[in-house]
Amino acid sequence: MNIYDGFSANLRNYATPCPNPYCYNPNCRCGYKCQCTPERQCGCQESNPESNELHESVVAAIEEMRVWVRLMAEHAQFIRMGLDPNPEQEQFFRMADQFAIQLGQLHNRVISTPNTAPTSILIQLREQTITLVNQLIQFKRTLFQLLESCQALAILPAILVDHVRREADRFVGTLERSKGNITRNRKTLGIPDGNVQAETMPRLLYHRLPREQVFKIGVEETAFFSRIHSEHAHHLSMSFRPDVQENYRRQAL
Ligand SMILES: [Fe+2]
Repeated sequence: MNIYDGFSANLRNYATPCPNPYCYNPNCRCGYKCQCTPERQCGCQESNPESNELHESVVAAIEEMRVWVRLMAEHAQFIRMGLDPNPEQEQFFRMADQFAIQLGQLHNRVISTPNTAPTSILIQLREQTITLVNQLIQFKRTLFQLLESCQALAILPAILVDHVRREADRFVGTLERSKGNITRNRKTLGIPDGNVQAETMPRLLYHRLPREQVFKIGVEETAFFSRIHSEHAHHLSMSFRPDVQENYRRQAL
């Protein structure tokens, strides 16, 4: 089963007349002739174009959520594992644990809900995600400041907590863009030209944009992910240094 094509275990609960698993249109009446693909929806004559557009926007957000909600849950898990387990930090530990549990449950709901589900259900999932991830962003931001000022203890470098905060900000910015809102600037995402608004947008909606705007998004995405991946490489190289590995080995024996 490929979770990206919207064909999930829950599909039967939301059965639609359209047998094409790539069709996101809950009102489609094309039957076996349906030509929809994830990038191009057929715009079936019998359905309402406005409700199609709304559904397409929210499906684009859901497709981003299928990847990123899981990553958000993993961020909460490794913050939980990385905190120093002293009694004064119990509150942080409990908060990270709660985020990990709630985001894990949300991820299960996101991957078990097909794109053909009623628009209102998909919108509800998107809103719950935005609310929860905004809270996680606030938690990461506070923890970063406390780590940087040595008021909290963890084996996580402060910059890594800021790294996962930027990833969460980009994710929520993308979901907000599926609603037509611009809520992040480049500074929030840690890329040059800080005061310029960030164009981050679900990729399934790129086809609605003029070519110049797609180019602008491409530049932003390249700047964002080059920094993110260079930080991934940096953290991996820190963990794989021979003396660090030797310490792990000794602790494991
Ligand atoms: Fe990352």
